[in-house]
Amino acid sequence: MTRPAPTCDPAVATLIEWFAADGADFPWRRTRDRYAVLVAEVQLQSTQVARVVPYFEAWMDRWPSACALAAAPLADVLGVWQGLGYPRRARNLHLAARQICASGWPEDDRLTELPGVGPYTAAAIRCFADGAPVLPHDTNVARVLARRFPDGWPGTPDGAGWAVGQAFMDLGRAWCTARAPRCESGCPLRSGCRAADAGLVLEVTPPRRRQSRFAGSFRQRRGFLLRELTADGAVPIDRDVEAAASLVADGLARAVGAELMLPERP
Ligand code: ADE
Repeated sequence: MTRPAPTCDPAVATLIEWFAADGADFPWRRTRDRYAVLVAEVQLQSTQVARVVPYFEAWMDRWPSACALAAAPLADVLGVWQGLGYPRRARNLHLAARQICASGWPEDDRLTELPGVGPYTAAAIRCFADGAPVLPHDTNVARVLARRFPDGWPGTPDGAGWAVGQAFMDLGRAWCTARAPRCESGCPLRSGCRAADAGLVLEVTPPRRRQSRFAGSFRQRRGFLLRELTADGAVPIDRDVEAAASLVADGLARAVGAELMLPERP
């Protein structure tokens, strides 16, 4: 019995070839380890790739496995995270590592049961660690799909899940960007792009959520208080009551009398 030749949409084939020749090299692309992929994806949320590289390398040197991270005190974890912002992500990563170390990884379709793992991160683990043919939908991927594949994704060929997912990351970051797309500067999917042909690329851009000025400055106050807390082990709550309450609500601190402390006992 002869099998039909595997079919592959020409644009998808072009994308895979382009990535094989020109895809970027990042340290998290040299591993298929689920824990490493989880660390990278959490660090990459809202932070530019170039800034993440040294954090990822330092993190993996220090805590190369979920059990290594699980054994670390939260104060160390928050200290190494400092500068990446959104410390709740570090807290959740630490809790996820403890869960993975104690009970193993959840079933493939239950990865979102891990603290801090939403549908995007779950899909990224399946794609970037397991090679599954799923596209992790973040804003970049959603934009590339809306512009170049308005009729729907034609399908990922067998064995190409990892490469297609990574290619989408590169495209969304460096070519098919929200405000200054580089359609005519070597976009591998320019041919057949109806949005570019019609001069409507900027119009096909799902809106971004912008952080308000107030939210930005409140985040700074929280960050300041958390840095003090991580360094000193305790700070008086009345130094910044609102920021303290928000850290407690996020599981990053606990109130003990008039003091704010890290949630773990030393
Ligand atoms: N952003 C999120 N995941 C990424 C990846 N695997 N490579 C590059 N940028 C990313």
